[in-house]
Formats: sequence, C-alpha cells, structure tokens
Amino acid sequence: MNLLERKSPSHIDGIKQVQVGCGPHNVLEDWWNVDIRAFKGVDEVMDVTKVWAWEGILDYIYGEHFIEHLELGGAISFLKNAFNSLKPGGKIRLSTPAVEWVLATHFDLESKDDEVRVHQTFATNRAFHGWGHHFLYSRPLLKSLVASIGFEDVKFFPYGESNDPRLANMERHGGFRVSKGFPSVWTVEGTRPKSNVSADENFLARCQNEYLKYVASGH
Ligand SMILES: C[S@@+](CC[C@H](N)C(=O)[O-])C[C@H]1O[C@@H](n2cnc3c(N)ncnc32)[C@H](O)[C@@H]1O
Repeated sequence: MNLLERKSPSHIDGIKQVQVGCGPHNVLEDWWNVDIRAFKGVDEVMDVTKVWAWEGILDYIYGEHFIEHLELGGAISFLKNAFNSLKPGGKIRLSTPAVEWVLATHFDLESKDDEVRVHQTFATNRAFHGWGHHFLYSRPLLKSLVASIGFEDVKFFPYGESNDPRLANMERHGGFRVSKGFPSVWTVEGTRPKSNVSADENFLARCQNEYLKYVASGH
C-alpha cells in the first residue's frame, strides 16, 4: 500500500469508507484505517469516541472485534459520531463477540469434573475481561442500541455475508463458529436515513443507567 497516495475522507476525492479500530493485522487497502494506537499501516490515529472531523460525507464505516473494547458510554459516543459522519444512505457494519455464544459454550453447569470447571472459570472470565474487552453484546441489545442512535434497516448477517457487495466478505478474524445455535460473533448493519431523525435518548439513558448500576459500580 502506498501511503503517500492515500487521501483522508476530508479531501473531496479522499477515501470515503472508514475502518475503525483496525488494529495491527487487519489494515484494509481501500479503506481509511483508524485506530487509537499508531500501528504500522494506520492512516489516522484517532479515538473514535471523540468528535470526528467528518460531517455527513462517509459512505461506509466498518469495525470488526472493536465495539466490545469500549465502555458502553464510549460505544454510544462512537455510534453517534459514526452516524453523523455518514452521508444519508451511508452504512455501518460491526462484528462483535456474541454474549449468548459465550454463555452457551464457556461453562458446563452439568459437568462433574472439577478440572474442567476450573479451566472453564478462566475461559469464561477471559471472554469478558480478556483482550481489553469492556462490554459484550447480546443480539437484542446490539440491535436496540444501533437503532436508538437513529440508524434504520438494522439487520444481522451471517459472518462475511451482506446484501451490500461493498460490505460482504469483510470479516478477517478467524475462529468464527456456530455452537448450540448461536454464532460466536454478531454482525450487524444499519443505514443512516435520508430524513432527519433524533436518537432515542430515553433508551440510551436507560442503557447508561444500567451500565452504571451493574457494570461500572464499584470501579
Ligand atoms: C481486538 S482489536 C481489533 C483489531 C481488528 N479490527 C481485528 O479485527 O483484528 C481492537 C482495536 O480497537 C482499538 N481501539 C480501542 N479503543 C479505541 C478507540 N477509542 N478508538 C479507536 N480505536 C480503538 C484498539 O487499539 C485495537 O487495535
């Protein structure tokens, strides 16, 4: 990739699709890759929970194994920034570990084998706290959260699939599987509507309150 030829979305002919939290291994050539850390290949070091420089100009936003690395308040700020930066009709796609899959697969309540349960205790805790995770999403919460920002047509897709060819085959992370009826990762898309909409601040406040009460209390 020739970084010198790459132009930020701010340029009239800049790249208008942004990958958030690209990390060190998943830089995408035809996307503007941003991360809070200056990994090799990152186009812009940026905390996506802070105000973005782009207003209504992006075509697409993509984040894989990313949103679970934010506190819930940060995730809401990120989603609002993403919404404002997309042009009407622009789309977001997010892939994130499924809390349903973690609960269904990580701890066998029927097991009588203490050794197994010792191991599973660590594995379960890793899903929530490992790799810098802050918050794992269930499908209904992810759907409601994305919709409450104002996105329309909020839909889930199987890993790597999309109705929009630009958003198909995006996932790079290995290890995807379906177990006990649940995918290990939720992949959700939403579209910025063409008309003006307001965020559902009541739902967002409820989420913030529950997060404070159940997750952040005692920190
Ligand atoms: C697990 S990595 C995922 C990397 C890549 N998307 C992948 O699938 O391999 C999560 C990334 O999010 C980045 N990140 C965490 N908080 C961020 C923030 N507030 N703004 C931008 N990037 C952030 C981290 O630096 C890290 O590179």
